[in-house]
Amino acid sequence: MRLVTSGVSKRFQGVTAVSDVSLECASGEIVGLIGPNGAGKTTLLNLISSLLRVDAGTITLDGRPVHNIGPRRIALAGVARTFQNIRLCPNLTVRQNIAIAYTTAQRHRRERLGGLTIERLMDQLGIAQSAEYKASELAYGTQRRVEIARALALAPDFLLLDEPTAGMIEGETQELVSAIMEIRDWMGCGVIVIDHDLSFITNLCERIYVLDMGRLVASGPPSVLRDDPKVAEIYLGRKARRQAAPSSTAT
Ligand SMILES: Nc1ncnc2c1ncn2[C@@H]1O[C@H](COP(=O)(O)OP(=O)(O)O)[C@@H](O)[C@H]1O
Ligand SMILES: [Mg+2]
Repeated sequence: MRLVTSGVSKRFQGVTAVSDVSLECASGEIVGLIGPNGAGKTTLLNLISSLLRVDAGTITLDGRPVHNIGPRRIALAGVARTFQNIRLCPNLTVRQNIAIAYTTAQRHRRERLGGLTIERLMDQLGIAQSAEYKASELAYGTQRRVEIARALALAPDFLLLDEPTAGMIEGETQELVSAIMEIRDWMGCGVIVIDHDLSFITNLCERIYVLDMGRLVASGPPSVLRDDPKVAEIYLGRKARRQAAPSSTAT
C-alpha cells in the first residue's frame, strides 16, 4: 500500500504551518520527518490522521482520497498514530487502554495479522509487566510505549509516531529502534516517525524528509543529513547555534 500527500497545505490565521508538502510512505517502509520546532511536523501528522482539514492538496491511500474524512474513519481505514503530548486515559490500566483500541478495530484487520492479541502487543513493546498499572502511574517512556501498543491494536497499515523518544532515557531509545523494526517486520506496516533525536532517526529510517517553516526542504537516505548543505544550515546549523547559546529556550 502507499500513503501519499500531494501538495498539502494548512494555514492557521496568519501562519502557514504546512506549505505544499508532498511525501509518501509505502508498506514496510520507515520514514523520518525532522525539522526545527514549529516546522509543521505535527501539523502534517494531524492532517494525515484527519484531526485537521487540509486547505489544499490531497492525501491518498492507494490512490483513494482520505483527507478530511475525520479521525475515526482514517483509523478504521488503517492509519493509526501516537501524540506528541501523550493522550492515554490516565485512570485506566495499560491493558484497558490498549483494549479500547483493540475492540475498535474491525475484526478483518486483526485477523489479517493472525496472532494479534493484546498480550502479544504488550510483549512486543516490553510493557507486559505494567499491564495492570494505571497509565498515570507509569514513567514517561513507558507511557509512550503504551501509546504505541494502543495505536498498533488497530492493526494499522500505517503507523504515525510523533516524538516517540521524548522522555526516554538512552537505553530505552535504542530498544525502541529494535521494537519498531520488529513491528514493521511482523505487521508489514509503513511507519512515519517524527523525532528530535537524530541518531534515533538515522538508525531507524530508510528515508528522511526535512521540513522547515512548513516547507519540505530536503529528502533522501539518512546521509542527506550530512551531505545536504541546506539541511546543515537549516537544521543542524540552527541547532548548533542554539547549543552555543545556553540562555536560549530551545526544547
Ligand atoms: N492549532 C493551531 N493554531 C494555531 N497555530 C498553530 C496550531 N498548530 C500549530 N500551529 C502553528 O503552526 C506551526 C507549526 O507547528 P507544529 O506543526 O506544531 O510544528 P512542529 O511539530 O514541527 O514543532 C507553528 O508556527 C505553530 O505555532
Ligand atoms: Mg511537533
